[in-house]
Amino acid sequence: MSFSTDGVVPNSAAAGTGTPVIAVRGIAKHFGSIQALRSVDLDVHQGEVVGLIGDNGAGKSTLVNILSGALQPNAGTILLDGEPVTFASSLEARRAGIETVYQDLSLAPDLNVWQNIFLGREKTVKGPLRFMGWLDRRSMAREAEADLERTHIRIGSVTSLAGRLSGGQRQAIAVGRAVSWGSRVLLMDEPTAALGVEQQETVGELVRSVSSHGVPVLLITHNLPQVHRLADRVAVLFHGHVVADLRCSEVTVDDMVSWITGAALGAQHHAD
Ligand SMILES: Nc1ncnc2c1ncn2[C@@H]1O[C@H](COP(=O)(O)OP(=O)(O)OP(=O)(O)O)[C@@H](O)[C@H]1O
Ligand SMILES: [Mg+2]
Repeated sequence: MSFSTDGVVPNSAAAGTGTPVIAVRGIAKHFGSIQALRSVDLDVHQGEVVGLIGDNGAGKSTLVNILSGALQPNAGTILLDGEPVTFASSLEARRAGIETVYQDLSLAPDLNVWQNIFLGREKTVKGPLRFMGWLDRRSMAREAEADLERTHIRIGSVTSLAGRLSGGQRQAIAVGRAVSWGSRVLLMDEPTAALGVEQQETVGELVRSVSSHGVPVLLITHNLPQVHRLADRVAVLFHGHVVADLRCSEVTVDDMVSWITGAALGAQHHAD
């Protein structure tokens, strides 16, 4: 896949067609009397970057937490490659290929870079007895380095403690982990919220790098100009519903704002 001159990943011929890599149908979630998600439908296809946008409290993180296995929905279905799946935990979702990047929570600060990359999927070498084995530290460190290099991520040493890295570097590791494991889909919840301008650009490059490896990205952000540049489509959540699914090439940032605030919805009702 090549990059177009303005740096936006072009749609591959297959993007947006065929069975979605991940899809949700009729997802609902309430917290007591708060209805966070009412009935959400969303498709994400191979190689696509999809923005998930909406005002504070619209339900974006709730949807990501459901997709990543951290929360269970009250109703609805998650489809992975067209097959219904349920995740009892984040680890189950991760094992199924759903990798999630949060701003600060995605890494264990007391573990180093390669340990974070292999967390939950440690490699062992066979010991003298069949049931014995020990951690294959050297090969994990080597592979972690190669994975980070493939994604053009510069961290310094894979033995640095994650807790000593900057927000942007931590993001990079979490993204590196996602591509290194042949993940099916990458979810990013506000990856640029607390980052400097330069680091925000790095996250943008990482998103492009991941999607150019064929892994679709669902990107939650309040940074509308960035998502307009990066994403193929944006889905707009409003009061727990997806009220619009927009092609970025066909809308402006102002159009996005009017969907987020509900102004476009009001105008549409008026026209009906
Ligand atoms: N664990 C929880 N317990 C109770 N209410 C919750 C919980 N998590 C989310 N909510 C509520 O659900 C609604 C949706 O929250 P959510 O975090 O999904 O919004 P969001 O779109 O991610 O917002 P933001 O842009 O501010 O991150 C909000 O009204 C929120 O207060
Ligand atoms: Mg949120």
